[in-house]
Amino acid sequence: MIKEYIDYPLRELNSFHVEEQAARIIEFDSPNDLDKIFSAENRPSKWYVLGGGNNILFTQRYDGVLIHPMGCGISIIDENNDSITICAEAAVEWDDLVENCVERGLWGAENLSLIPGSVGASPVQNIGAYGAEAKDIIYRVHYFDTEECKHLTLSNAECRFAYRDSIFKQELKGRAIITSVEFKLSKHPAPNLGYGDLAAEVEARGGATLINIREAVCDIRRRKLPDTSKIGNAGSFFKNPVVDKSVADKLKASHEDMPIYPTADPDKCKLAAGWLIDRAGLKGARRGNVGVHERQALVLVNFGGATGADVINLAHEVQKTVYETFGIEIEAEVNIL
Ligand code: EPU
Repeated sequence: MIKEYIDYPLRELNSFHVEEQAARIIEFDSPNDLDKIFSAENRPSKWYVLGGGNNILFTQRYDGVLIHPMGCGISIIDENNDSITICAEAAVEWDDLVENCVERGLWGAENLSLIPGSVGASPVQNIGAYGAEAKDIIYRVHYFDTEECKHLTLSNAECRFAYRDSIFKQELKGRAIITSVEFKLSKHPAPNLGYGDLAAEVEARGGATLINIREAVCDIRRRKLPDTSKIGNAGSFFKNPVVDKSVADKLKASHEDMPIYPTADPDKCKLAAGWLIDRAGLKGARRGNVGVHERQALVLVNFGGATGADVINLAHEVQKTVYETFGIEIEAEVNIL
């Protein structure tokens, strides 16, 4: 079913809670609705998929059509002695999927507990946390190709996943609408506790069960990250920068406590943008209605009443200060419209 609204207020549809409007918004619940929405006579000239609105910053009225998936079914599509494949429609809340997997005793999603957002958004930027990424459990992605008006499927390899990246942010950007995602989860215990203080938190709860890992991750996130229902934000505003190893080594020589993470490429390292912003002196900085979160410098927050432009101005200040302090460019992870 398709529902359409004109001049729609976006405040409740973006986790930054900025007050902007969309000229039109179209809700759909079945993938087949997209054939009609993108038929030759209806085809919108400007459109954007709005999922949970958790990784987006509206800086002005959106004068095109926001396409908003509503289908939220979860079904088991395959099972053997080792694994279960679950298909979830795009509008399923990511954390509902994780909870569902944990309740069924399935391994693979637990470290990704409490990440805000919808299933349909998870492959786009290959969401990740605590040493796990969506790509580790995604089996296939079903999408509608708006140029060919066809329903297509990509395997995990075809999605070309990388750190906060996929084909949906590259070749298929502005072309694909993800309608559902299949996840392959293991029936065999496979705790992944290598990240930070996760192992200690899990041990303190009595050992590496699925429920203990989920609860530990949820607690760590609640301690460090602001609750979007209380204070507007979009999680990490910036990506962790990937730099040449020589650049990282040089910085490390003068900043001993700077975290450096290896990447698949031995000549490149990932730095922690949160650490860079923190050490550049901006953690907890406030500029009117916006600020840098006091417990996690990677997160920009709207204290209430901020416009998208207020957030962008702060983001530019953060980028400039980090560049002046460390010579490192950090780029936004959030989609800016
Ligand atoms: N750090 C600071 N000060 C800060 C923030 C971080 O010194 O204000 C240091 C930490 O002490 C740590 C390092 O920077 O040594 C990394 O920090 P943290 O472990 O908190 O993770 P992150 O790299 O800042 C990434 C993801 C998060 C995810 C966490 C946990 C990105 C852009 N962000 O953050 O994802 O929850 O790891 O795995 O990769 C999101 O994408 O919205 C998100 C929250």
